[in-house]
Amino acid sequence: MRVETFKKCVYIVLFLLIALFFTKDIDFFGEKFYKNIKEVTNPESLVVLVNKNNRLKEDYVPLNLEKIDLAFATEEKYLRKEAREKFEQLSQDAKNLNYKIIATSAYRGYEYQEKLHHYYKETKGVEYADLCSARPGHSEHQTGLSVDVTGSNQDYNLFEETPEFVWMQKHAHEYGFILRYPQGKEKITGFKYEPWHYRYVGEEVAKIIYENNWTLEEYLKNR
Ligand code: DAL
Ligand code: ZN
Repeated sequence: MRVETFKKCVYIVLFLLIALFFTKDIDFFGEKFYKNIKEVTNPESLVVLVNKNNRLKEDYVPLNLEKIDLAFATEEKYLRKEAREKFEQLSQDAKNLNYKIIATSAYRGYEYQEKLHHYYKETKGVEYADLCSARPGHSEHQTGLSVDVTGSNQDYNLFEETPEFVWMQKHAHEYGFILRYPQGKEKITGFKYEPWHYRYVGEEVAKIIYENNWTLEEYLKNR
């Protein structure tokens, strides 16, 4: 092969590699959500992935659900033992600093999620419903590892405006929680930004996710 031809080939390969790098996250073939759905095989794992492409069985209920102390929840709410302990610790530490971080939604069963999604669909249409509410089996609230919180304004929708949100941004990972649906990551998570929704993954993983500014999807892909 002539030197010139060889050089051309090298340039073409380099160009293709660079183009591949910059386009790897673009979905050229349209909507990828709620397609090629896999059934979750590790529902008890602390890093279980439940999203629009990974579904829990209809009858899946976590083994060790425990009631959150009513000092830290709006009413009777349940989380898995590990998440419940750490959430209470977080909420207590926040309280000691005069913050108020209270669980307003935690474990949600399949049927409850079905009703919730149906409600959004009926009132706002399916597109909006799918942006803010998971279809049944696709909500990680069914894992018992997720919690929606309110702050001092007592409105989870406006949690971002509270000093508690600022505190959570800095400290949630120290208790093993991550902000599950961050702003700017909607194409990865499939859901619109939810400043109030936190997911327990354990301290070690939460720290890695926090330091890399990842979603759970990105952590599982890159770990
Ligand atoms: N709001 C979250 C995405 C859920 O419905 O699980
Ligand atoms: Zn939530």
